[in-house]
Amino acid sequence: MVIDPQSLDVGTVYKLMSNTIFPRPIAWISTEGETGVNLAPFSYFIPVSSEPPCVMVSIGQSEEGGLKDTAKNILLHSKATISLADDHKAGLIDATAEAFAYGVNEAEKFGIAMAKIADEYPPCVADAKAALLCSLHQEVSLNGSEQIILFLKIDAFYYADEVVDERYNVKLENIGRVGRDYLVDAKRMKV
Ligand SMILES: Cc1cc2nc3c(=O)[nH]c(=O)nc-3n(C[C@H](O)[C@H](O)[C@H](O)COP(=O)(O)O)c2cc1C
Repeated sequence: MVIDPQSLDVGTVYKLMSNTIFPRPIAWISTEGETGVNLAPFSYFIPVSSEPPCVMVSIGQSEEGGLKDTAKNILLHSKATISLADDHKAGLIDATAEAFAYGVNEAEKFGIAMAKIADEYPPCVADAKAALLCSLHQEVSLNGSEQIILFLKIDAFYYADEVVDERYNVKLENIGRVGRDYLVDAKRMKV
């Protein structure tokens, strides 16, 4: 079967993309705005360059139209902290995806402890095993799209001591995204 995306509504295109291109990592992004911390998940998220070390996150419009709080804050302060989460956090990740009014602190609302790693960056999820402290590197508008494409430069990698060794080998059990479900316990295979 060959499917022309132009014959489909955008929800169906999303369904095909998110069930086909997987597992996708989840960026649990904390940002700081005029009113405090904001925390929300994003899975249109991928590494794009090691020099400079950059990731891309693609952010859609809010339900009322206009910028989502995460995009608003990154464009305002140029900083974002991306926490990587394991399967214990699936429920909370989902909860923080709800569209709240600007200024609602999702972490506070759902009792998610946050911790500062460095003063100039938003706090990460306190028990995340890894986080990326990022600055806005570039904003790109995608032709024909209302998505905002943000390239974020990794200024610092944070790891809990037990998941990284002195040779920079990292052991994480990140949760993934498949369609609207979560992928857990993905197994590694050496070839
Ligand atoms: C696992 C997961 C992944 C998501 N990925 C994206 C994404 O890549 N881009 C996007 O715009 N929204 C994505 N969403 C929806 C946002 O999290 C949601 O719109 C959220 O309310 C945005 O919060 P904010 O307004 O505080 O930034 C995702 C939701 C979930 C649960």
